[in-house]
Amino acid sequence: TTVEWEAESYDMGGHDTYMHKEISEQSDAVDRVLRGRIDDRFSTVHLGGLNLDAREARGVRRIKILGCGTSYHAGLIGAGLIESLARIPADAEPASEFRYRNPVVDPDTLYIAVSQSGETYDVLAAVQELKRKGARVLGVVNVVGSAIARETDGGVYVHAGPEVCVVSTKCFTNTVVAFALLALHLGRIRDLSVADGKRIIAGLRDLPAQITEILESEAEIKKVADEYADAKSMMFIGRVRGYPVALEASLKLKEISYIHAEAYPASELKHGPLALIEPALPTVAIVPDDDLLEKNRAAMEEIKARSGRILAVAHQEQPKADHTILVPKNEPELDPILMGIPLQLLAYHTALALGRDIDKPRNLAKSVTVE
Ligand code: G6P
Repeated sequence: TTVEWEAESYDMGGHDTYMHKEISEQSDAVDRVLRGRIDDRFSTVHLGGLNLDAREARGVRRIKILGCGTSYHAGLIGAGLIESLARIPADAEPASEFRYRNPVVDPDTLYIAVSQSGETYDVLAAVQELKRKGARVLGVVNVVGSAIARETDGGVYVHAGPEVCVVSTKCFTNTVVAFALLALHLGRIRDLSVADGKRIIAGLRDLPAQITEILESEAEIKKVADEYADAKSMMFIGRVRGYPVALEASLKLKEISYIHAEAYPASELKHGPLALIEPALPTVAIVPDDDLLEKNRAAMEEIKARSGRILAVAHQEQPKADHTILVPKNEPELDPILMGIPLQLLAYHTALALGRDIDKPRNLAKSVTVE
């Protein structure tokens, strides 16, 4: 069985679809996940429901994040945030894979279950298995009081508000911001400096206005989407922080437009997928202005040399790309949050151009509560 949202009970607020409404709400949603949590005096954040004191936080040797679909992708970005801000080794894995491979459950590892609905069966089953083995499990969950929220030892509510569209947009963004808060919190208990704490807090506070700025470029993104909507398949590439952004953007596109899409780390192109590149297979490249900029430019050159079309999502115009969608720059750790947003709109307008049922894509359910 699947959980059916009572869609009628939520007002569409003048939008044609819930997905469009939810994309448009992201600035307010991010405001909500930040509200009341920032502590300027100590350049940290307070997370009331975490149930992990400073001594316990210092004892964590490793973090393993578990989720499915979009929540798994948010977890991948979360793992990157935790590694860079808290310097705790962290990784994310699909919850279903984790629970079927008889994982080594280590007492010094902190487990984090990620779920919008808090009801996804694979995630819940992974949590129950971990608890049975004595592990400490936190939740990063949107729906208050949901099964996963109840089963975990504590956690961070994402406060995205109700999400009706089957595919997740605002909850993805808020989940990543929640991970940034958790990473900052853990970092400031461990080795993150006051200066870096202040830098990340300032970056977090800039997010809502920057999201509004991105959403204002919707007309331009729609034009690009109309141009690429005839593609049979699309490639998404990114490096390190950009790679989970590519994964999520490619998932979003296939879920609602039914266009086949793949995501690859840009560095892996030459180890296989380069064979696919031709004019009929456009590439979306995530190109932040960071220390990997030159590497990403080199990948775009490789694609151009094979007559591939390129759409770059970048902080500055990319001469090798056929189109560049410009995104405002934040702190490098937080840039993935912003770079995903225009790609939600790209998927949306591609699906719209193809006449898809955007809020209820075929074969999918908002919440998968069975195996
Ligand atoms: C379903 C939905 C996805 C979602 C996944 C995880 O497959 O179609 O959009 O990402 O479940 O859902 P959750 O509620 O656990 O985040």
